Amino acid sequence: MQYISGITMALKKKKIKKKSFKKKKTIKQNVVSTDKSILDEIIRVDHAGEYGATRIYDGQIAVFGKNSKIGKTIQHMADQEQEHIEKFNELIIEKRVRPTALLPLWNVAGFALGAGTALIGEKAAMACTVAVEKVIGEHYREQQELLEDDEKELRKTIAKFEKDELEHHNIGIEHGAENAPGYKVMTKVIEIGCKTAIAISKKI
Ligand SMILES: [Fe+2]
Ligand SMILES: [Fe+2]
Repeated sequence: MQYISGITMALKKKKIKKKSFKKKKTIKQNVVSTDKSILDEIIRVDHAGEYGATRIYDGQIAVFGKNSKIGKTIQHMADQEQEHIEKFNELIIEKRVRPTALLPLWNVAGFALGAGTALIGEKAAMACTVAVEKVIGEHYREQQELLEDDEKELRKTIAKFEKDELEHHNIGIEHGAENAPGYKVMTKVIEIGCKTAIAISKKI
């Protein structure tokens, strides 16, 4: 008899243990956290993109000069890009994310794109801004959907940057981007280039 009640007690204990484990698991499941590989990709690609953006505006300012009228407009956007890259420089360290191995390429390609479009003219430089900022703005919008509640701060940062990129896009339109020679083809080519750079920088 004693033996049987001993077994019953042991079974009951087991049941209790099982129950508390289940509860623990549920609580854990309630905490929605962002997938680490998705988070890494977001930070890596945004760091690369903001770095590229600073280089594009460096290239344009190198052609127009800081003190020209258009140079001052571009400098305003370049200053915001500097804020953006500094934030991602911090995040890449804080979240221990490996930066893209292609920074040297984006350094050269960004500057060449900025200087190249500026050499065509002011409107072409602005068309470049419109194309780049359109892609980056859309990309930032999509990323906010991927971030869960454990990354609220980052979601807020990206939302703020999205607003800045939209402002840059609109500055481009206001400065006659759409009247640039070959506007449609040029913006399409730049958009494809940006999307390709994004896809590569997420992984490499
Ligand atoms: Fe930016
Ligand atoms: Fe921008």
